[in-house]
Amino acid sequence: MKILTAYYSRTGNTRVVAQKIAEITKSDIEEIKDTKNRSGFFGFLVSGYEAARKKTTKIAELKYDPLNYDIVIIGTPIWAGKMSVPIRTYILNNKDKFNKVAFFCTFSFSPSNIFKDLEEACNKKPIIKEAFRDSEIKSGKYIEKLNIFRTLISNNS
Ligand SMILES: Cc1cc2nc3c(=O)[nH]c(=O)nc-3n(C[C@H](O)[C@H](O)[C@H](O)COP(=O)(O)O)c2cc1C
Repeated sequence: MKILTAYYSRTGNTRVVAQKIAEITKSDIEEIKDTKNRSGFFGFLVSGYEAARKKTTKIAELKYDPLNYDIVIIGTPIWAGKMSVPIRTYILNNKDKFNKVAFFCTFSFSPSNIFKDLEEACNKKPIIKEAFRDSEIKSGKYIEKLNIFRTLISNNS
């Protein structure tokens, strides 16, 4: 069972969760990198504006081909109630290569309808969906929610 964890992180929260999930599932890990600078307050504003309008961007070359994996776990921060722009781009560029998908997101106050947004973009029902609040990541409580990802190895090996 080959698993890939693919994520984007602007300020590090999604990276923390992605690295733990990759460790638990013994998966390869792909950090999606945007070629656009999204730092600072201006980056925040532009990112929210683009995410709300479901825009795409140019992402850096990938290390791993999702076609080679049985499951791709996709992780994104919530931006303006939607998935982040780099993750939307990754999905649009690669959705035909996905076999099974699992989703996770990070958010500060509401996960909104993110899983519907992800499901529609992938055109696939996820085998797992889990949302992590910033405060859970900061306090370490997010670890308690990771057990569901262990089932990927125990059910599918
Ligand atoms: C442009 C932008 C828009 C955001 N919009 C939302 C939102 O609609 N709902 C929410 O709960 N959090 C929102 N957030 C907070 C992030 O989803 C949250 O802090 C997340 O953990 C950031 O992940 P990262 O550190 O991996 O980039 C937004 C953050 C940014 C930068």
